[in-house]
Amino acid sequence: MTPIRFGLFSDLHANLPGLPERGFGGRSMEDLCRGLERFRQAGVSFAVSLGDNIQPARDAREEASQLSDMISLWSGYGFPVRMVPGNHEFQQLTDDEYRSVTGLSRVYDSFTPGGARFILLDTNVNPDGSHYSADNFDWRRGILDAEQLKWLEEQLKNPVPTVVFAHNCVHWDPGDPADEWFRLQNSEEVRELLADSGCVRAVFQGHHHTFRADRRDGILYINVPSPERYPAYSDECFPVVEFTEDGILYNGVPGGEL
Ligand SMILES: [Fe+2]
Repeated sequence: MTPIRFGLFSDLHANLPGLPERGFGGRSMEDLCRGLERFRQAGVSFAVSLGDNIQPARDAREEASQLSDMISLWSGYGFPVRMVPGNHEFQQLTDDEYRSVTGLSRVYDSFTPGGARFILLDTNVNPDGSHYSADNFDWRRGILDAEQLKWLEEQLKNPVPTVVFAHNCVHWDPGDPADEWFRLQNSEEVRELLADSGCVRAVFQGHHHTFRADRRDGILYINVPSPERYPAYSDECFPVVEFTEDGILYNGVPGGEL
C-alpha cells in the first residue's frame, strides 16, 4: 500500500448563534476552521468527521441548513471530508433528510486509495433494525445491523490493510459499568469480525468525547476527543494520522506508544 495521511475530528456539537451550547461547543466552528487549516497544511488526502457535528436548532429546517452550511465550509479546504454520522445528526432530521442534505444514498461505505481500504460504518440503528430518525432512538442502544454486518464481512474477505471509522465505540471497556452505554450494543460480534479478518489495523471512533487508545486482537482502537471538553483549541481534537505498512502514527506518536 501507498502511505496515506488523513485528518479526523469528532463530536463538534456546534450550536447556532444564540442557542444553548454544550460544554465549550460554542467555539466548535472556530476550532473546526483551525483544524481544517491544520489538515490542509499537513497535506492530508482526506478527513473524516466521526459524527455529532450539530446541536439542536430551532427546527428541522434550520438544522438541515446548519449541516448543509457546515458541509459547504469543510468542502473548501482542498480535500474531501467523509462522514460517519452520530446520533445527534438524527435528533431533529429524519433519516431521509440527512441523506438529502449530505447527498448520500447510503451512509455506510468504503474507499480504497493506494491499496489501503477505509470503511465508514453507520452505527445509528435501533435494536429493532430501524434507522435513527427524528429522535426515535435511545443513544445508548446503537447497533450495526445485519445488512452492514454482511456487507462488512464481504469487504474484509479481500485482506488489504484496513482502517475503520464509526461514531459509537466498537471497543470500549474502561472498566466502569456506567460507561458501557457508549459501546455499540453488538460490539462483540463486530470486534470478532474485524479480528478474524486479520487485515484491520485501526478503528477510529467518537461518541464518548474523550481520548482513549486500546489494543485488542492486534487492532488499535482510538477514541477521538471532542472540542466541547476543551477550554481552548487543541490539536488533540484534530489529529493527523499517517497510515503505512508499518502501522499508524497518530499526531506523530506511533500507535503502539499511545
Ligand atoms: Fe457526541
